[in-house]
Amino acid sequence: MTVLPRDVLHASLQDPVLESIGFLNEIMGRYPDALSFAPGAPHPAPYEGLDTARYLDRFTAHAAASGLGPERAARLLYEYGPARGLINGIVADALRRDQGIDADPDALVITVGAQEAMFLVLRALIASPGDVLAVSDPCFVGITSAASLLGAAVVPVPEDADGLDVGALAEACRAARRSGRRIRACYVAPDYANPGGTRMAAGRRPRLLELAAQEDFLVLEDNAYGFTAPPGAELPALKALDGGRRVVHIGTFAKVCFPGARVGYVVADQSVSTAGAAAVPLAAELARLKTAVTVNTSPVCQALIAGMLLEHGGSLAELSRARSALYRRNLARLLRALDREGAAGLPEGVEWNRPGGGFFVRMRLPVPADAGLLEVSAAGYGVLWTPMAPFHPGGGGTRTLRLSCSYLEPEEIDEGVRRLGAFLREHARPRSGAGARPGGSS
Ligand SMILES: Cc1ncc(COP(=O)(O)O)c(C=O)c1O
Repeated sequence: MTVLPRDVLHASLQDPVLESIGFLNEIMGRYPDALSFAPGAPHPAPYEGLDTARYLDRFTAHAAASGLGPERAARLLYEYGPARGLINGIVADALRRDQGIDADPDALVITVGAQEAMFLVLRALIASPGDVLAVSDPCFVGITSAASLLGAAVVPVPEDADGLDVGALAEACRAARRSGRRIRACYVAPDYANPGGTRMAAGRRPRLLELAAQEDFLVLEDNAYGFTAPPGAELPALKALDGGRRVVHIGTFAKVCFPGARVGYVVADQSVSTAGAAAVPLAAELARLKTAVTVNTSPVCQALIAGMLLEHGGSLAELSRARSALYRRNLARLLRALDREGAAGLPEGVEWNRPGGGFFVRMRLPVPADAGLLEVSAAGYGVLWTPMAPFHPGGGGTRTLRLSCSYLEPEEIDEGVRRLGAFLREHARPRSGAGARPGGSS
């Protein structure tokens, strides 16, 4: 038998981020009856009774009526398709109407989830060893693991309660320059980030774009959770503020439709010039890269998503209305349950933030929140959560855990937090042995 020592394979296979995802899956498999605040997966309720045939028909009828004719439209679903995508116009219309993002359909690529979009954008932008990706710290592991696969250097930039620290990013740009490197792009999820739950304050958004222009980097905006903002409290996407075309906007239908479709998109309207040839949008270059990765996003899946959008008047806001309400209900329930446990008395130093949307609450402990502690929580109390350290490329987060509210029913949230409280009272006491006090918020 051929034996391949792991260390002769690409270094990304030993990346602790991949290890940590494997560990979480493994522990969930070992404790199937535990209540789990670990997965950031969408709630399954909206999939029940999903009429996929109707949505496919809806898209096919739309394509036929848009000039393709019935025969060609019917064949679309079964053939290879253009790398840039089939549903670009429908998605571009929705982004314009719902988010004020005014992009030409040619500036979009429909990708295999947001994950592929991240991979393609990094592949295009990180062109030499001196090109660095700045990321908010803590940060979604999807982008750091894509960087790891591509061998791209990552610089963590801290975030505070108002989101990415723009002053620290400016300093990171200067430090990179001093060492002969340059920050090529900065990844940020301005609306209810995964894992921190942070939302970038309105006043900070233009400051980030100003810095991007000044320091000549692109902003990679991940908008996975923007749809969970309470009605009337939405903030403009960075892309909607982007007069200078500094923002590459990445979106996903995983949360507003369903993740099994694996459909996402990227808006890349930057202009790529070649001597002696007409400029093309960066999206066209991403589509060329995509031909070497996934060829094209499944036409069937694109048609399903487009059909769902069309059934909701072509509006992302309409499409996501019920789901957004479901997640806000769950988040409020989680925060209420935590407050109850806090009032009943939690060890000193147990603190959590209070996001206004998204799937995640971040909890700080006075003790390490590591794999060993998770094992105790799972085995002794039947409750799972996610250690945050792997989300910190800067090396912090060892005493922080993430609670996701997305996947559970409200009663399960109550029971899960009750179990969590019992676990914390026993196992999250500060080493000094300080007494208990009501849990606070941070
Ligand atoms: C911040 C963030 N971006 C994107 C995604 C979804 O990506 P995809 O469309 O590849 O499922 C997730 C899902 O967990 C996420 O948390």
